[in-house]
Amino acid sequence: MALLEVRDLTVVFERKGEQPFTAVDHVSFEVEPGQTVGLVGESGCGKSVTSLAIMGLLPKRGARVSGTVGYEGTNLLSLSDREMRDRRGRDLGMVFQDPLSSLNPVVPIGVQVTEVLERHRDMSRKKAMVEAADLLDKVGIPDPTRRLSEYPHQLSGGMRQRALIAIALACRPRLLIADEPTTALDVTIQAQILALLKELVRDMGTALVMITHDLGVVAGLCDEVNVLYAGRVVEKAERHELFAAPRHPYTHGLLSSIPRLDAPRGQKLSPIKGSVADNIPWDHGCAFAPRCPNALDVCVQVTPAQEDIGGGRLLRCHNPVRPPVVEEVSA
Ligand SMILES: Nc1ncnc2c1ncn2[C@@H]1O[C@H](COP(=O)(O)OP(=O)(O)OP(=O)(O)O)[C@@H](O)[C@H]1O
Ligand SMILES: [Mg+2]
Repeated sequence: MALLEVRDLTVVFERKGEQPFTAVDHVSFEVEPGQTVGLVGESGCGKSVTSLAIMGLLPKRGARVSGTVGYEGTNLLSLSDREMRDRRGRDLGMVFQDPLSSLNPVVPIGVQVTEVLERHRDMSRKKAMVEAADLLDKVGIPDPTRRLSEYPHQLSGGMRQRALIAIALACRPRLLIADEPTTALDVTIQAQILALLKELVRDMGTALVMITHDLGVVAGLCDEVNVLYAGRVVEKAERHELFAAPRHPYTHGLLSSIPRLDAPRGQKLSPIKGSVADNIPWDHGCAFAPRCPNALDVCVQVTPAQEDIGGGRLLRCHNPVRPPVVEEVSA
């Protein structure tokens, strides 16, 4: 059974003197214990806003959140601030995209980690210090005992990111939302962090929501992928199926714009033309239409509905990419 069940999550920002802006539009997905679900898409498509809405961390003023966020049958959106605060850290962990603004600048790293251990795992200060050093070591921070007494500004950007991951892991949350946790890290540390997250999911049965624009991370970690475009899920599929046969032209474009080792020699990478600024509003048609190589007249006239195309896949497109033909092997 799903631990987290997000249904029709919608976030509208009210802006003074401007039209309200829908950053997240009826997004639905589920995550089971021990499962990793990816939210993928380019900058500004609503990934962070989705995660902040789930965690109850959007500003109360100016952001209208609707839909439901079921956590073991409780709608988190209906809880009070106090109840949510209690859940965060105990059941729900989050690695934020921006490490500097999520660490307390005037509290040493060690205290920020041990605080979590003392408060949420009932450890003594002494035991928590040992565990904290162990956690920093696990996330690849060298000389962890010394680092515990340092302040966030004394750490490099990548180290701060790792400290944040250590804090999230310290709670042993049953649900972890990781927002671009490895973007600021170099590849060796990145691989180490991804291995650590994998271990967490496998050994502790953590349900992981992985937010990324990096399809390499998706390939290495996610069981299921939701591709977001302009606040809506345009395609959802199991990871292998998505890579083998992307159906939405946007997903197809994302996959064609990364280098592949198995591509024929000399094959050119094809970027997606245009930028998010070219979007049309979803209620006028398909937001991706102005950038889409497959666009038809209907795409700028009718909003595509989300369709179940079988095999657990969902698609929102009038003119999808044809699935590759599997050649039959004759006996
Ligand atoms: N507090 C806010 N008030 C108004 N608009 C906001 C607010 N936070 C985010 N937005 C807008 O919502 C949209 C989605 O932002 P979001 O941060 O979720 O993007 P993202 O997918 O996480 O992008 P990135 O990959 O760059 O992190 C953007 O257009 C952003 O400008
Ligand atoms: Mg973001």
